[in-house]
Amino acid sequence: MSRLVVVSNRVAPVAEDQPSAGGLAVGVHGALKQSGGIWFGWSGEIVDAPPETPTLYQQDSVGYATIGLSRRDYDQYYRGFSNGTLWPTFHYRTDLSRYDRKEYAGYLRVNAWLVEKLKPILRPDDLLWVHDYHLLPFARMCREAGIANRIGFFLHIPFPVEPVLRTVPPHRELTEAMCAYDLLGFQTDDDCTAFSDYARRQLGAVPQAPGVLAVGRRRVRVGTYPIGVLPDEIQEQSQTHSNSRQILNLKQGLHQRRLIMSVDRLDYSKGLVERFQAFERLLEMAPAHRGKVSFIQIAPPSRSDVEMYRNIRRQLESAAGRINGRWTDLTWTPIRYINKNYDRLMLMSLFRASQIGYVTPLRDGMNLVAKEYVAAQPADDPGVLVLSEFAGAARELGDGALLVNPYDTDGMAQALGRALIMPVEERKERHQQMMRRLRENDLDRWRDRFLADLRGDEFA
Ligand code: F6P
Repeated sequence: MSRLVVVSNRVAPVAEDQPSAGGLAVGVHGALKQSGGIWFGWSGEIVDAPPETPTLYQQDSVGYATIGLSRRDYDQYYRGFSNGTLWPTFHYRTDLSRYDRKEYAGYLRVNAWLVEKLKPILRPDDLLWVHDYHLLPFARMCREAGIANRIGFFLHIPFPVEPVLRTVPPHRELTEAMCAYDLLGFQTDDDCTAFSDYARRQLGAVPQAPGVLAVGRRRVRVGTYPIGVLPDEIQEQSQTHSNSRQILNLKQGLHQRRLIMSVDRLDYSKGLVERFQAFERLLEMAPAHRGKVSFIQIAPPSRSDVEMYRNIRRQLESAAGRINGRWTDLTWTPIRYINKNYDRLMLMSLFRASQIGYVTPLRDGMNLVAKEYVAAQPADDPGVLVLSEFAGAARELGDGALLVNPYDTDGMAQALGRALIMPVEERKERHQQMMRRLRENDLDRWRDRFLADLRGDEFA
């Protein structure tokens, strides 16, 4: 079988006792651990002079090939076009998006440079699996460099509908470049349809068969591959710290209070301010819950050198301070807003110890926290997932979760109120439904389905 070479912007080896990484890192690492292979990309370091060749090392069955970025490349490719233009636009925040031609040129330059650095490591029959919005034109650059390997792409974040995507000035060039991939994978049918509709209208793509588009002389396959988790592994992890001093102290300190738990990168797409406001609305609407419920928001800072991220941090600090100032008394603090990261085992144990998983992004590709929360619950007394209808996970977990619109403060407060008093029988039924979906679409299936389609003979 051909070797798997994964390419993503950030290469982040994941260990259980390390601070938790984002969904991409958890998913890619989990997938590679099973199949073996190489993970190539940015080391996370900014260096004065990027080296000629990547640093190679091996950890368990995974080989890593990482390389530093120069300050200019980091500013233009990562901070600029990827996170200043594509990220906000793909999350429907065109109001926060900005475009700079120099940054776009840097984005293309770094994509081509990464291809140049990868090429010497590649074998002719390697299967390439490229991840996320930083690398939309990577396959195009590969083809230009004479790399004929089969190359698949998976987008972890949403793909916007045509009128939104068109606000990015080089939208046509970018999407044309995406068609140099053999297979394009998306998190949900909505994302996949948005791409296909755009390609038909803007690139003149012609559907040839279900999931196959002809774009000029190329044929590209498109499909939906919702990323999953490994439920049994999470069950086990969630019990590791159940009797640890930290969890016991937490439970003791709660004095029988109910616990609402959220964990997100500190990002404006996560709907954190709206979430704080809805929690406050619950306290206003339902006096019985005052003093009886605590909300822990873990939000490690992210991309702090992008201005919008500094703004959202300020807004949150002010919201948390205001709400706590209004409601805290001598024995109870309603919101614990924590700006640091915890290791994965601790997070899973915290999920298990909490009665509500409160996951309400304004827009999210999938949101693995929602799935992890469900998988970490005890089957005989599970917590309730309150989930935004705009998270990709809502497509699979909509029957068992309480779905909310994060723009509807009253609706979210009502859902929290309902979750807090939900009888155990209903909680169990909902949990079982969600667990069935988690097992059907687990992380192994995500990888296996994508790679089987990428390897498949339909391309011949
Ligand atoms: O899941 C989206 C994503 O942008 C990944 O590509 C990335 O690894 C993760 O979030 C964390 O973001 P960053 O690498 O910018 O810190």
